[in-house]
Amino acid sequence: PPESHVSLTVNGTRRTVTVDNRTSLLDLLREQFGLTGSKKGCNAGACGACTVLVDGRRVNSCLTLAVRLEGAEVTTIEGLAEGDELHPLQQAFIEEDAFQCGYCTPGQIMSGVGCIKEGHTGSPEEIREWMSGNICRCGCYVKIVRAVKQTAG
Ligand code: FES
Repeated sequence: PPESHVSLTVNGTRRTVTVDNRTSLLDLLREQFGLTGSKKGCNAGACGACTVLVDGRRVNSCLTLAVRLEGAEVTTIEGLAEGDELHPLQQAFIEEDAFQCGYCTPGQIMSGVGCIKEGHTGSPEEIREWMSGNICRCGCYVKIVRAVKQTAG
């Protein structure tokens, strides 16, 4: 199958790889880079478990082709903390107890970071709307919204 070279920055580290043109960003992250924080729930854009930031914007990495990311800056859940210091939203998820099984959590947090950056945090309803691409089967939405709101201020 056709392959391409792609150079991108992941969590601040420049990486150059050869990928099958059909490879998703999610598979690149998980299988080639060993960054398994981003989860594969549906692999079809319906659950949000694979959410990462590309050039600061939220994307479903399962729907994003790796070959399209030449020069892009990707941030995953592994890149959020600064050394031992958690990102404020990670801390808020712990404080609000905003998860049960935890499978959706990396995607929820990355989406929450995007939502805060975009300024869609005026009310719980607005947060719900702009986080609606991220599904939580355990039903932790109230606490997730609270954690996002608390972090946004
Ligand atoms: Fe990408 Fe579900 S795994 S949206």
